[in-house]
Amino acid sequence: MTHKIDPCTLVLFGASGNLSRVKLIPGLFRLDLLGRLPDTMKILSVGRQEVAPDAWHADIKSMLDAKFKNGVDAKVFERFIARNFYHANAPTDSNAFRKMKATLSDEKVFPQNLAFFLSVRPTDFAPVVDQLAAEGLTQEDKYWRRVVIEKPFGTDLPSAQELQKSISKHLKESQIYRIDHYLGKSALQNIMLQRFTNTLLEPIWNNQYIDHVQITNTEMLGVGDRTKFYDSTGAVRDMIQSHILQILALTTMELPKDLTPKGVRASKIKVLEQIRPIPVNELSKHAFRAQYASGVVNGEKVPGYLEELEDNSSVVETYAAMKLFIDNPRWQGVPFYIRTAKRLHEADTRICIRFKKAPLQVNSQDQNWLIIGIQPRECIKMEIQSKIPGLDINTRTIQLDAANRLPEDDTVDAYEALLLNLMQGDNSNYLHISEAEAQWRLVDPVVKAWAADKKPVYQYPAGSRDPEASKVIFEHEDQFWRTSIELGGDKP
Ligand SMILES: NC(=O)c1ccc[n+]([C@@H]2O[C@H](COP(=O)([O-])OP(=O)(O)OC[C@H]3O[C@@H](n4cnc5c(N)ncnc54)[C@H](OP(=O)(O)O)[C@@H]3O)[C@@H](O)[C@H]2O)c1
Repeated sequence: MTHKIDPCTLVLFGASGNLSRVKLIPGLFRLDLLGRLPDTMKILSVGRQEVAPDAWHADIKSMLDAKFKNGVDAKVFERFIARNFYHANAPTDSNAFRKMKATLSDEKVFPQNLAFFLSVRPTDFAPVVDQLAAEGLTQEDKYWRRVVIEKPFGTDLPSAQELQKSISKHLKESQIYRIDHYLGKSALQNIMLQRFTNTLLEPIWNNQYIDHVQITNTEMLGVGDRTKFYDSTGAVRDMIQSHILQILALTTMELPKDLTPKGVRASKIKVLEQIRPIPVNELSKHAFRAQYASGVVNGEKVPGYLEELEDNSSVVETYAAMKLFIDNPRWQGVPFYIRTAKRLHEADTRICIRFKKAPLQVNSQDQNWLIIGIQPRECIKMEIQSKIPGLDINTRTIQLDAANRLPEDDTVDAYEALLLNLMQGDNSNYLHISEAEAQWRLVDPVVKAWAADKKPVYQYPAGSRDPEASKVIFEHEDQFWRTSIELGGDKP
């Protein structure tokens, strides 16, 4: 499905920042290269410093050169540069936004449908919206006005609600585009489509057939030079509150009424609100945290988290696992084990579904798995039991393995897809406020309880598999972490 795009101007705040340099400007260039930007579309970059037009264009060139090592098409580059303008919004200038409005009001240059992308510090989201509104730039009369709020939308439920209260003074829900960049990934969009466009899967996608589900995101990398940021965030807020709960929602939602943004989001909101709150009085049975200690990754010795942080008192988790239940007829009684970790033995994001025991059990391991690989491999795998040819009756597991991405397929960065959706006015891959709230409501009690518990945190060696102690959250003795998408990854 393709949507038409109105002539528009993208106003990019924080244009010289890291996200803009690495993702947004290169993403917009790629969209131009693919012929997906309207001819008259313009980009007004906004930053605190004065930058001359030539210098800004040279800076854009350096961003593109850094991203596209094989060079950029000269003709497309010329077209792209002609779309790009810069406006200095000096922090000391109380008229800065008025001047920006005056610049934008030149209709011969700037189409008047305006999308403001706030790639700035989270503390600046609300003040920037206030100032845009004060100049009447959020008012939709003849033209649409949209505002993208980067991640994170708050740091807990009260701060998310406070931010919402502030920006909703000026913006309707339909004007607010909250980013969770995982939703721009084709592999995530595929979860819903693969489920609902195949008769094979949907009939068994419920508690009658499914024993449990594991949603996993692991990295081999540590926190690197982001120690301060990470220690104020932790694995739950960084990954579970956002990306992992969105993967869970896509895996468990009911068939949307239709494929409109409203229909898709309503279905996700419903299931997110049906997740049972984690009982804090029994937290140790439902959630487990740990920190990586020194160890060996890719043959290289690496320091532990506390050493990198140079603070032994931190109790912030680099490994978090949780058990969740969804209180609806489809999922009643099915545990969802979600986990995220830094410095584990492999980097992988996947959904693993373990089916219930078959009517005939030759080996105790005769249970089927369905695996959806999200990254690095976009694939769907099914593990089934099969007889080993020979005189005796013995079974082994075989794997049906299909790629969801073929070598010739387009590689589209998540931000390219999201930027296109923004201009199309399609917010199905952006978060509704009810999703953001449901996600914070769920994780807040865990984050709070863990922060208050100052006992030293369980340590796992960098490069290892899941900490043995994490198994405490499993409901049954025959449940265990699946450690890879490959055959054999189901061995405890
Ligand atoms: N980088 C990522 O991969 C990533 C991932 C997820 C979410 N995000 C979110 O995206 C947003 C931008 O991230 P980023 O990594 O690009 O941030 P960044 O490089 O630290 O800064 C973005 C912009 O914020 C302005 N800024 C920086 N420090 C400031 C200060 N002390 N006072 C006022 N303005 C300041 C600068 O704009 P001027 O041009 O005005 O100087 C800068 O270009 C953040 O909300 C972040 O949470 C980023």
